[in-house]
Amino acid sequence: MERVQTGIDGLDNKIDGGYPSGRAILVAGTTGTGKTILGIHFIYQCCLEGKKCRIIATEEIPEDILMQSESIGMPLNKFLENGTLTIDKVYEERTWQTKEMMSFGIQKPDEMQSNILGLLDKVPEKTEILLIDNIGVFTLNMSANEFRAQFDSLIYTLSKRGITTMFVMDSAADDRMGGVASYSVYGIIRTMIKDNPYTGARERFLEILKIRNTTIPLNPFRFDITAKGITLLKKETK
Ligand SMILES: Nc1ncnc2c1ncn2[C@@H]1O[C@H](COP(=O)(O)OP(=O)(O)O)[C@@H](O)[C@H]1O
Ligand SMILES: [Mg+2]
Repeated sequence: MERVQTGIDGLDNKIDGGYPSGRAILVAGTTGTGKTILGIHFIYQCCLEGKKCRIIATEEIPEDILMQSESIGMPLNKFLENGTLTIDKVYEERTWQTKEMMSFGIQKPDEMQSNILGLLDKVPEKTEILLIDNIGVFTLNMSANEFRAQFDSLIYTLSKRGITTMFVMDSAADDRMGGVASYSVYGIIRTMIKDNPYTGARERFLEILKIRNTTIPLNPFRFDITAKGITLLKKETK
């Protein structure tokens, strides 16, 4: 099976060479655990390889993503300028739509916020790599059933089109949906921050929960986020 590099040093060789090409990976974790940065690594790597990339950003304005990418030494700006990368302004659109609907006296912006399948309209024909960060915002008024039906259908269509997709989903939304997102995707990565019981220090962990068709490490591994982005830490000797 073809693989797409993760853009993180030392991660590809832990998962048979990278993310499975043309399939969907879910990155779940609580806020501030490094989900977006994991996504930026992936997009930056794919942009370097000249793949057609797209970010659908539901929580951040493009300027903030660009700033974040610069702060970890993976500036995405040049790829936006040369057309390798496109960033969709779903966050801004959501705000405008809400304002508009409110001004027409429609009090419930629920419907548009639950249209996960509608994201397909934002993925043009030539797209090869897609990052949707964070799919969780669409689930606020949704049942787990409805979410799963739409999410399955979205993933099916993207896979059919050969697009390698990374979905970011915050843990709160994942829990609210009863964890059903996990069933639909080809692979799941979880990012965490935990207290070290011996030192009291807070530590970052990355855990590969599943990747179909792939040998995966069973233990979570530690990483740091620095001005160079995510660095996997060597195992300490006990
Ligand atoms: N340039 C940087 N140097 C060091 N740490 C950083 C840098 N940029 C971001 N971080 C760390 O990454 C965290 C945010 O990661 P992010 O991927 O945005 O989390 P999530 O998307 O899971 O909410 C910040 O809280 C900060 O601790
Ligand atoms: Mg984020």
